[in-house]
Amino acid sequence: MSTSYYWNTFCQTKFGTGVSESIGEEAKKLGFTRVMLCTEKALIDFGVATKVIDILIETGLGVFIYDKCIADAPSHICDEGAAFARKNKIDGIIAVGGGSTLDTAKAVGIILGMGGTTITDYYHSQEAPHKVKLIALPTTSGTGSENTPGAVICDATTGRKEIPVFKADLALVDPVLTYSVPAKVTAATGLDVLAHCAEAITNRNYNAYANIVAKEGIRLTMKYLAMACKDPMNETAREKMALASNLGGMAIAETGCSIGHSFSQTFAAMNHVPHGLGCAWALPSCMTYTARYGRREDVAETADAMGVSYTDQDDAMSIAKALSDRIVAYMKELGVVSIRESGYTLEDCMQAADLFQYDGAFANAPGNPRIEEIKAYIEETYEVYK
Ligand SMILES: [Fe+2]
Repeated sequence: MSTSYYWNTFCQTKFGTGVSESIGEEAKKLGFTRVMLCTEKALIDFGVATKVIDILIETGLGVFIYDKCIADAPSHICDEGAAFARKNKIDGIIAVGGGSTLDTAKAVGIILGMGGTTITDYYHSQEAPHKVKLIALPTTSGTGSENTPGAVICDATTGRKEIPVFKADLALVDPVLTYSVPAKVTAATGLDVLAHCAEAITNRNYNAYANIVAKEGIRLTMKYLAMACKDPMNETAREKMALASNLGGMAIAETGCSIGHSFSQTFAAMNHVPHGLGCAWALPSCMTYTARYGRREDVAETADAMGVSYTDQDDAMSIAKALSDRIVAYMKELGVVSIRESGYTLEDCMQAADLFQYDGAFANAPGNPRIEEIKAYIEETYEVYK
């Protein structure tokens, strides 16, 4: 195990209830005059992005709305976004949306910075120059993408997830933007936070800083996610989940995810299952997988954060089983549907096994899982939550 590591924080963040109202002045400070507003059509329809747009217009900025962002940030949507930006001669990007929207905006920043036409040319490049800066306003508490260096893009040809690098220049994390998120989406995205934090601790890349922030992310999620689902306008619950999401982003920026995300980024992505739901399904078994191939202290630290008790005599597997039970119970409380209830068979899930090796998170999984271990992991994932 390595004993030295870097600490990095990736993006200046302005955090708090109401901070999105300062978007006009913040955009001006960065020199924006013609803004590309990356968002999702639903956020225009529900008035969430509209509030930001109105402020930008009142500030006197030109606003060019690109509302084609969709789940999984397909590469062709990123490419179209870059062409849209060039056509409208924009000099700043503002992303208002969930993780995929923020990632699409990052990809546009990469294409413009590199002077190219398609993100597919830059999956493995060094970070592009920020010729056009990016302000990120997350509208879900889930991916923490405003605070991660990577953009998770789905290649339109191969269907694989690729993670080119581009950091936002500023994040405005305003819990108010999450108030209209429905309970089902709040639960799935919140469990993505839990997965980020638990996987960041239990993967093979130990980092004390990541563990500290991840443990707080877990504690907040266990305390406030159910509250945010039951009472969407609860200011405290929404604020704490926005913080947890940002902490989760920080944690995975340091150590990455693990085999749980490999399941979501293959099986869930292939079947257009929401990312957070796929991560939730994969998390209980990720804990027992870690106990089998990873370190007891990582499982124990995760248990500490989740409020799961154990004794010095308990081995890694018994702690991990208690963790798995706790996560399953929380998922039940949140009303999360199972893989089976969503209409998938174990055979459907096994289709993803061969794809794990291409997933970015897979290299972080403890052990050296071969196809037999991957299949056993998928089977446990399928069976553990019914
Ligand atoms: Fe995730």
